[in-house]
Formats: sequence, C-alpha cells, structure tokens
Amino acid sequence: MASIEIDGLVKEYQNRQGRRTRVLDGIDLSISGETFVSIVGPSGSGKTTLLNIVSGIETLSGGSVRLRAGDRDATVGYVFQDPRLLPWRTVTQNLKFVQRDRSGWEERARHYLDLVGLAHLGDRYPAQLSGGQQQRIGIARAFSVEPDILLMDEPFSHLDAMTSRSLREHLERIWLESQRTVMFVTHDVTEAVQLSDRIIVLAPGGRIHETIEVDLSRPRRASDPAVAMLQAEVLARFEALEAAA
Ligand SMILES: Nc1ncnc2c1ncn2[C@@H]1O[C@H](COP(=O)(O)OP(=O)(O)OP(=O)(O)O)[C@@H](O)[C@H]1O
Ligand SMILES: [Mg+2]
Repeated sequence: MASIEIDGLVKEYQNRQGRRTRVLDGIDLSISGETFVSIVGPSGSGKTTLLNIVSGIETLSGGSVRLRAGDRDATVGYVFQDPRLLPWRTVTQNLKFVQRDRSGWEERARHYLDLVGLAHLGDRYPAQLSGGQQQRIGIARAFSVEPDILLMDEPFSHLDAMTSRSLREHLERIWLESQRTVMFVTHDVTEAVQLSDRIIVLAPGGRIHETIEVDLSRPRRASDPAVAMLQAEVLARFEALEAAA
C-alpha cells in the first residue's frame, strides 16, 4: 500500500534580481492507500508545481515529501495535460516503450488498453487517433507500468465536454479496477467531485484553503442527483474563493 506524506512543503522561485516569490506555502498532506485525491484551485495557485515536486521533476525549498510503498520507496507515474505519445510507434509499442519490467508486458498492455476500450486500436499510430483516444492511450500507458502512485495534471482540460465526460468514466473504471494512489489536478470542480475521495482546494499563494471528503458510492454518474448536488455546492464555494482572489 502506497502513501504520500507531505510536511510543511514550501516552494520559492527566485528571479534574476534575486527576489523570491513563494508559490507553495506550508502544504501538509497525508494520503494513504487506494485513494483518489484531487487538487483544485485558481490558476497560479501552485497545483502543477505541487505535482512536479511530488514527482521529483522539481526541487522543494523547504519541508519534506515522502513517497512509500510498504518498506520501500514508491514508484510514480505522471500523466500530463497532453498525452505525449511517440508518433513513430504504434499504440502497443508506445505502451511497451515505458515498461520498466518487460516480462508480461504484452498482457499488461492488452489489459489496460481493454480497460479504456481501445484494445482494437493497438496497431494504429497516434496520428490515426482522435484527441480523446490519444488521451485514453496516455492513461492506459501510465496505468500499464503499474506504479504505486499516479499523478495527473489536467489530463482532460483541452478536450471537448463530451469527450472529457466519457474519459472521466474510463478513468474511474480503470482506477476502480487497478486501485492506485492518485493525485489528480484539475480546475474543474465538477470533475473533482465525480472522481475523488478527497478534494484539496488550494488558495492563491499556495496554501490549502479547504479539504472536502467525498463520500458518494461508485461508480458515479454526473446525472446522479447526489453527485449533482455536491457538485453545485462545491462549485459555489470555489467560485467564492476565485472571486475573493
Ligand atoms: N519556473 C518558474 N519560475 C518562476 N515562477 C514560476 C515557475 N513555474 C511556476 N511559477 C509560478 O508559480 C505559480 C504557480 O504555478 P503553477 O503552474 O503551479 O500553477 P497552477 O495552479 O498549476 O496554474 P494553472 O491552473 O494555470 O495550471 C505561478 O504564479 C507561476 O507563475
Ligand atoms: Mg497547472
């Protein structure tokens, strides 16, 4: 079982004149087990920076981040906003390329492509797929490595509303089936409510404004009245935060 322990995380950037700007200001966060956590917050509140630090792409200025899986360090996968598939490889070859452990990769590739409903497109090249299909492949690729922790930064934000709604359902299905620890960044509060066990709301300045536990049964549908009601409530609170920013 994986865990993410973040204590007093601070991130500052320094400009050429040596002036420091603090973009994350004392983040404490404890996530353990098969939990889906969304990070929402206004533009510039530090969501991407937080994921980059957790992934190890960026350094931190203060505090600590610990990623564990049992008694070892946890492995991490990262899904970016655009799927970043290799255009000269087929779908299946794209999944093969990222495997740390090649044994059994074909079975894993088939399994995760099947979970996103695209097992029949394994021989296609990325240019022969729609944007939504490419993103589904990107998600299947990240899950197929079977990392302990999966980070996702607004993976659906550049897709149209209908495609992203169907992708959310695919993501929930693949997550329910494969049970990972997920940190998912979005600025879409309704998306966060549909997918998450917990929503962390970041305020401008990079502090945690509020934590919302989402205790709704799964799988969730946007048309479900309980989901819609919570979405409306959280959205109203979020808009108030944005208006105050
Ligand atoms: N390399 C950098 N150098 C200086 N400042 C940076 C750098 N990267 C990010 N920032 C600043 O840090 C703050 C947080 O940026 P970040 O990209 O984490 O925000 P975000 O919440 O992901 O925003 P968005 O919703 O627009 O993606 C912003 O004010 C941004 O300008
Ligand atoms: Mg961002």
